[in-house]
Amino acid sequence: MNCPQDWPEPIVRVQSLSESGLKALPDRYIKPQTQRPVIISGSQNDVNIPLIDLGGLFGDDSALRATTLARISEACREWGFFQVVNHGVSPELMDRAREVWRGFFHQPMEVKQDYANSPKTYEGYGSRLGVTKGAILDWSDYYFLHYLPGCLKDHKKWPARPSSLREVIDEYSAELVKLSGVLLRAFSGNLGLEEDYLQNAFGGEDIGACLRVNFYPKCPQPDLTLGLSSHSDPGGMTILLPDEHVPGLQVRKNGSWITVKPVSHAFIVNIGDQIQVLSNAIYKSVEHRVIVNSAQERLSLAFFYNPRGDLLLQPATELVTQEKPALYPAMTFDQYRLFIRMKGPQGKSQVESLKSPR
Ligand code: OGA
Ligand code: NI
Repeated sequence: MNCPQDWPEPIVRVQSLSESGLKALPDRYIKPQTQRPVIISGSQNDVNIPLIDLGGLFGDDSALRATTLARISEACREWGFFQVVNHGVSPELMDRAREVWRGFFHQPMEVKQDYANSPKTYEGYGSRLGVTKGAILDWSDYYFLHYLPGCLKDHKKWPARPSSLREVIDEYSAELVKLSGVLLRAFSGNLGLEEDYLQNAFGGEDIGACLRVNFYPKCPQPDLTLGLSSHSDPGGMTILLPDEHVPGLQVRKNGSWITVKPVSHAFIVNIGDQIQVLSNAIYKSVEHRVIVNSAQERLSLAFFYNPRGDLLLQPATELVTQEKPALYPAMTFDQYRLFIRMKGPQGKSQVESLKSPR
């Protein structure tokens, strides 16, 4: 199976629709009743995903390190989603990364169109995920680029403007690769594996890292649509830099949707499908989606830390027992991610459907 060379129908930029000032949402974006967001009120508003101070992982206080690891372990098991502060990435760099991308999306459409993407690789400026003709679309545009492996990184496919973008995104990505390494070591140890187990299973130095910058324009009827439909991230782990002012990310917990309240200069970390597979479902990827609003645009940077595309991934033998046999067959990430690239976001249906019959 390969992705087609081109989109099944002409691409419409959501930002152009939004800026045209239309009052009613076009039919293409109207979700079926069951998928529409219900704005949560009352007691659920107090719930938030765990917030973890990672400082203890960088110092030499072993008691503090142990407590931090325990908090990460609990967050991975109970939530699969948490925010981190004291993560070692400079707040000023985080702000610059967000601002260069805001600068990109606020350029004239002709400039952005030079980077229009295709479903073949998805790299560049895009407005849909999936190639099903006539599909109901999400209310967002995005930019997708590769940082690692080095052979896939191509500065020419990154925006040339704002002029500092390539440099800022190189610096930002290098920092996030470091942070990802720290988190994968913590996850490995917490799972009872060698500290470098997950990193090695991902391909050692040769892992994949890509950035998806999501741009959610103001929406005339936010209660009828979604900025990004429910999905779990197909890769290893995601480090999200959310908008500093505008909430929108919702995480599914016990059947209801919790809106994440972003903490200043925190990152949001979540487990992807490949860690669910490698951990034999001790850790689970979690469904999430994005709601939009009529008052403010929203911008987020999702950094995906993934296994190399051509390695076979399967549950760690250390985590496979007679009581808990391997739940997933071996598969490469290149094969795995074709599903979302063809069908678009579909909750957790892919990883669930892979479960070996028992
Ligand atoms: C994603 C994602 C969330 C957000 O890009 O996979 O889940 O808040 N983004 O934009
Ligand atoms: Ni996601």
